[in-house]
Amino acid sequence: MPSAPHRIVFANEKGGTGKSTTAVHVAIALAYQGARVAAIDLDPRQRTLHRYLENRGETIVRRKIDLPTARFDVFGGDSVEALEDLAAEIGQGCDFLVFDTPGRDDPFARHAATRADTLVTPLNDSFVDFDLIGQVDAETFKVRRLSFYAELIWEARKKRAMATLADKRREMDWVVVRNRIQHVEARNKRRLDEALGELSKRVGFRVANGLSERVIYRELFPSGLTLLDKGQLGELGTSHLVARQELRALLAGLNLPMPAKRAPELAFAEPRQQASPQAAPQAA
Ligand SMILES: Nc1ncnc2c1ncn2[C@@H]1O[C@H](COP(=O)(O)OP(=O)(O)O)[C@@H](O)[C@H]1O
Ligand SMILES: [Mg+2]
Repeated sequence: MPSAPHRIVFANEKGGTGKSTTAVHVAIALAYQGARVAAIDLDPRQRTLHRYLENRGETIVRRKIDLPTARFDVFGGDSVEALEDLAAEIGQGCDFLVFDTPGRDDPFARHAATRADTLVTPLNDSFVDFDLIGQVDAETFKVRRLSFYAELIWEARKKRAMATLADKRREMDWVVVRNRIQHVEARNKRRLDEALGELSKRVGFRVANGLSERVIYRELFPSGLTLLDKGQLGELGTSHLVARQELRALLAGLNLPMPAKRAPELAFAEPRQQASPQAAPQAA
C-alpha cells in the first residue's frame, strides 16, 4: 500500500503574511521536481490557493502548454471527518498534501496543524507579525512571553509526539519562514533575527529564509504562473534568477522527503473538473 502523503500545512493566525503565495510556490516547485502534489484550501471564503491554481489551469488551456501543477480542492465542510475524507480522496497516490489555511483561528486549520508533518509559518519581517508567536520587551526587544498561537502549536506537537510513538509517524517539523525580506532594513532584520533565534530555542521551531519582497509575486496570481515557469513569463531580468534561487533555497530549507526522481507528470496534475460538493458556491 502506498504510504500517506507528507502533509505540509501553511498556517498562522494572521492574514497577509504570505501563506497562500508561499504555499502555491512550494507546491509547484515540488511538482517541477517530479513529486505528485495535491492541495486543499481551507478558506472557502477567500480561496486564494484554489483560485490561483484554477487560474493556472486556465492558462495551461488558453496557451496550449503543459506545466507541472497540483490537484486541488477547497474545503467548505463542517466536520473534521469530512476534511479527512477529502484529504484521503485528493491525496490518494500523492507524495505531498499541501494545506493552505485562513488567517484566523479556525477549527479545521487547527486540526490540519496537529496533523502536519511539516508546519510552515510564514512571517513578514515585522514585529507586528512576530507578535503572533511571541511578545518582545518594548525597550530591549527581548522575548517576554509566548503568544497564544505558539502555545497552541506547542500543545499540538506534544500530542503529536505521542502519536509519533504510537503510530510510528515522523515528528512534526515546525519551520518559521521569513517572507518579504527586504535587505535595506538591516536593523529591523537583525532585531528580528535575535528575537526569532531566542524564541526558536524555547518553542522548538526552525527558521528558514523565504521569498524576498518582489512585485512579481503580486502580479502572477491572475495567470496562476510561478517564477519557475520559465518561458511563460516573458523577458526576465537577473533579479528573477536570484528569486528562483531563493525559491530553491526555501525548498531545500524545508527539508522535505523527496520521492525517487521521476519526470514531472503533467497529465497527473490536470485541474479537477468539478469542485467537491462541499465547495463554497461560486459568485454569480
Ligand atoms: N514575497 C512577496 N513579495 C511581494 N508581495 C508578496 C510577497 N508575498 C506575498 N505578497 C503579497 O502579499 C499579499 C498577502 O499574501 P498572501 O500570500 O495572500 O498572504 P496570506 O495567505 O497569509 O493572507 C498578497 O497581495 C501577495 O501578493
Ligand atoms: Mg491566504
